[in-house]
Order: sequence, then structure tokens, then C-alpha cells
Amino acid sequence: MAEVIVLDSETAAGTLAAASIRALIARKPDAVLGLATGSTPLSVYAALAASLAEDPLDMSRVRGFALDEYVGLPTGHPESYRAVITRDVVVPLGLDPANIRTPNGDVATLETAGIDYEAAIFAAGGVDVQILGIGQTGHVGFNEPGSSFASITRIKTLTEKTRVDNARFFDSPDQVPIHCMTQGLGTIRRARHLILLAFGEEKADAIAAAVEGPVSSSKPGSVIQLHPHVTVLVDEAAASRLANRDYYAYAYAHKYAWQGI
Ligand code: F6R
Repeated sequence: MAEVIVLDSETAAGTLAAASIRALIARKPDAVLGLATGSTPLSVYAALAASLAEDPLDMSRVRGFALDEYVGLPTGHPESYRAVITRDVVVPLGLDPANIRTPNGDVATLETAGIDYEAAIFAAGGVDVQILGIGQTGHVGFNEPGSSFASITRIKTLTEKTRVDNARFFDSPDQVPIHCMTQGLGTIRRARHLILLAFGEEKADAIAAAVEGPVSSSKPGSVIQLHPHVTVLVDEAAASRLANRDYYAYAYAHKYAWQGI
């Protein structure tokens, strides 16, 4: 079962996730981070940057793999996930850009980009901790409903709903690419620890389906139920449709300190 922790703010969730990632890097200086983009993980990156500013840690060997990338955006486009990861993660955390990879969304190399990315993750020894957001369609990464639980990094077609949701980052909805390269649900399942974050009432259905719904490729977030180590960090609004919300709080309150998250 995923551990569900309901927190009173996005900041508190970011602080908790950042502490876990910091502890990982302290014990494994070349840790491999799985990096989500979008609004949700920003509190994690901000908390980790603040913690590093206060108490520095050697970040020079930390490696990272982004979850996904849009297809067909020109190199350097400010909303390409390469640019977003550089701005929101690499610079604030003082990571070496050479250690950070994003899937290649270049149209010319799409046929081989997925398998190349899988090989790079494999060569790095796999992802230690994968940070995840969830879309209102229930996607994790850009694995839209219907994605196979065995899928690997590949091209996917974004739903119209996801394109509309992400239009806030672009000048107009029609500028949001139709395709993306995304780690598959099979790729995500191979990460050793998943930290899924969600905030706001608009994520409540997706979180309830992921945590408590039937395991179904129609609800890609439900893949977390097949993973042995998952932490779900949510605010009250995102937790509002969880039937077992009180039990999660009870279990968290009675954890042993050594358990961590
Ligand atoms: C981002 C990603 C997506 C987002 C999801 C939620 O790399 O793969 O699954 O996590 O679309 O987006 P936000 O956080 O912007 O609500």
C-alpha cells in the first residue's frame, strides 16, 4: 500500500520530500533522481535548494532523468522540459548539467529516442527516487489513460485535456505540442522509491483513483499500487475523496522513527 501523508500545505509537502531526497544524497552522493516538471514539484525543488543554501552538500555527482519532454519544440524553447529542468532544478540545486538528461524530443530521432533513454537509465543503475505529479486525466509522466503498465520511454499523444491544462505555460493552447516523449509506466515502476505529490481539489479524483481505485490502465496513476515503496504527499483538498483518509493519518502518526518515508 502507498503511504499517504496529508499535509497542511504545499510547502510542508515540499519540505518533507526534500528532506528525504537530501538524506538519500548524503548516503549516496551519485544518487539518481527522477525529475518531474509542471507546477506540483516546485515546492520540493525550492525546499531542497533552501536546505542546500543553509547547509551545503556535494551535489556534483548527483544524476537526474526528467520524466518527459515535448516533441518538436525548438532547442532552447523556454517551455521545453530541458529548459524548465535547467531553470527550476539544475541551477537552484547546483547540479552539473552534464549529469542531467531529458528525453530527446527532436522529431528527427524519435524512433530511437525512447530506447536510448531507457539504456541511459539502465547504465546509470536505475532511478533511486522518482518525483511524480499527476494530471487530471490520471496520467503520471505523460502516460495518458490506456498506457500499458509495461510501457517504456516512447512517444505519446497528449489528450486535449492535458493540452488545455498545460496551455497556461504557453501563449495559446494550440502552441502546446500534440506529442511528447515520456518515460513509460514500466520505467516508472522500476524506480526504487516513488514520491507522488498532488495539491488542490482538481486533483482529488485522480488521487482517489490512483490510491484506492481499481488497478487499471484507464487510470495510469493506479500503477503506484503495484510498487513496493510509494509515498503520496497531498494537501487536504487533494485528499478529500480518499475513503481511508483517517486511517492514513493514524498510520502516519504511529510510525517508527526509523521508517522514514
Ligand atoms: C510532468 C509530468 C506530468 C505532471 C502532471 C501534473 O513532468 O510528467 O505528469 O506531473 O501533468 O502537472 P502539474 O504539476 O503542472 O499540475
